[in-house]
Amino acid sequence: MHAPALPPDAAILRALFAARDSYVSGSALAEQLGVTRAAVWKRMESLQEIGYPILSQPHSGYRLDEALPDILCADEIIARLPATRIPWRPVVFAETQSTNDLANREAHIGHPQGLCIAADRQTKGRGRRGRSWHARAGDSLLASVLLRPGWPLTQVARLTIVASLAIAEAAESLVPARIDIKWPNDLFHDGRKLGGILTEISADAETIGAAVVGFGVNCRQLPSDFPEELRAKATSLCQLAGGSVRRADLLLAILTRLDAWIAAPFEEAREAWARRCLSLGRLVSVETASGPRQGQALGLDENGALLLRGENGRVEAITAGDIA
Ligand code: BTN
Repeated sequence: MHAPALPPDAAILRALFAARDSYVSGSALAEQLGVTRAAVWKRMESLQEIGYPILSQPHSGYRLDEALPDILCADEIIARLPATRIPWRPVVFAETQSTNDLANREAHIGHPQGLCIAADRQTKGRGRRGRSWHARAGDSLLASVLLRPGWPLTQVARLTIVASLAIAEAAESLVPARIDIKWPNDLFHDGRKLGGILTEISADAETIGAAVVGFGVNCRQLPSDFPEELRAKATSLCQLAGGSVRRADLLLAILTRLDAWIAAPFEEAREAWARRCLSLGRLVSVETASGPRQGQALGLDENGALLLRGENGRVEAITAGDIA
């Protein structure tokens, strides 16, 4: 498990989140950080400026107000992450072209696994199969993680399975609603799309060298925020919760579950995924790179590929594609 030294703002946020409704003493914080009480006050002011509702009271110290706005800040993620096997290193941008593009660039120059790039807004967000992915600033959790699982290339489809499972479970932990998965990795509730995943890998002949798993999860959108043609087909966590859901809470839950599912035996992930998958048992039409396939979706094989029984009775393992 990984326990890095905390940056000062992350140390302050960790203390405030841990105390939650009670006050944290300014002098205790000053001592912990090795700075003056005035320096602690300055940091509190800068955290207030980015939106944290920090209350202060003479002789008691500082505490967080109950109603926390939806701020996505790397120091908060660092502060609140539990110990994980993957050394997550969150970075948050106000705007970037695409978090997948940035993470791919870092992967290419050898950045170790655990990098997590999130953004309030993307100028060229990408979806699967060359589609673009739009979201208004702050409305969705837009993030990409860099993984180096060291798995054989034959197991590449496992990545999508564990990622969709982790995100579905994380989302479900924050709203009173069931989150389903449509093969390979779309997140749905009641027939409406909540989010999607774009996995990109670089590999040598036999092993996955780096994988960038990018995800976009609708958080704040009201029905009227979606374009007309998507209104009946899309949903968001705030609609499912009947109130706001913080993107930071979602990202923390995703990183925690992804860490656990990557380490777990794949057989367990496969079973948990199958319980959520809308496509299994059904007759489906799958668009693959080598053309369309039709058949009954039976389940996943040990590599994470979809087993499809065609009309001729033959079972084919499909690693990537889209169900119509
Ligand atoms: C899909 O359903 O087609 C997948 C959408 C994936 C979108 C996310 S948003 C964060 C990351 N950066 C991108 O450019 N795309 C992914």
